Amino acid sequence: MQHIISIRDFSRRDLDHLLDRAEDFAAGGYDRNLLAGKIVALLFFEPSTRTRMSFASAMARLGGDSISVDSVEASSIAKGETLADTIRVVSGYTDAIVLRHPKEGAARLASEFATVPVINAGDGAGQHPSQTLLDLYTIRKSMDIDGLEVGILGDLRYGRTAHSLAYALSLYQVTLHTIAPRGLEFPEGLNHELHDRGMEVKAHRDVKEIIRDLDVLYITRIQKERFPDLGSYYDVASSYRITPETLQGVKDRLILLHPLPRVDEIDPRVDSTPHARYFEQSRNGVPVRMALLSEVMR
Ligand code: NCD
Repeated sequence: MQHIISIRDFSRRDLDHLLDRAEDFAAGGYDRNLLAGKIVALLFFEPSTRTRMSFASAMARLGGDSISVDSVEASSIAKGETLADTIRVVSGYTDAIVLRHPKEGAARLASEFATVPVINAGDGAGQHPSQTLLDLYTIRKSMDIDGLEVGILGDLRYGRTAHSLAYALSLYQVTLHTIAPRGLEFPEGLNHELHDRGMEVKAHRDVKEIIRDLDVLYITRIQKERFPDLGSYYDVASSYRITPETLQGVKDRLILLHPLPRVDEIDPRVDSTPHARYFEQSRNGVPVRMALLSEVMR
């Protein structure tokens, strides 16, 4: 059985294989009944639009079904059930579990109690591996990942998509530019890990310092819900914003990515520039999740 918990569990070969599979699904000619008779549980204990719906869409396109729990309040967790018990029970109803949970490490814990594969759809400030796959997929559609200068902007402390993506990029020949407000830099442990993996990581405070050198800029939202108090959130809120003016002089091939939802970090006027790829990126969630689901439920 194959759980998808952290991007750390993947080799570059695994990633490239999944991305190739996703390309096949995007191209069309696949078996519409590949997962007929299979059921996936979508257990979402935190808000989600894209991740939950694109997993459900991917499952439906492959002929399978999905059943879901969308909130703690609507489930027996509200009665005091442990995650371990919930996972044991749901394992008996389904062929795979997609879990989003506010606590870091929840997906790993769930995988210890599950008798079906568990896919981590975001565990607190931890990891979000299926998002990273669609991020890589979107980059790879525009250019070869090796050799790129990639910037990751925003909440690098709490942003799980940023953590997973940085780690995955360390499997490629990429120079990483981190751009974060004070106090929202990568956790020290992750910085060390990237360094130990031989990745060149350059830290910046202001995106304007570096944007002209970048091939990819991955923009993230400040993760308001993870701040210990609102005061410390308001200290950094709205401290960066990409506008058409910010994009003056950038490389023609620069692509702007964002896992979405955005708050105010990208001016909507940027959407109509040739650099904006974030809506295409969210669409790519479907073929990528088709590849993942078909892989774990083979
Ligand atoms: C991200 C998440 O949930 O981590 N959203 C997503 O899955 N596309 C990013 C975010 O919420 O900021």
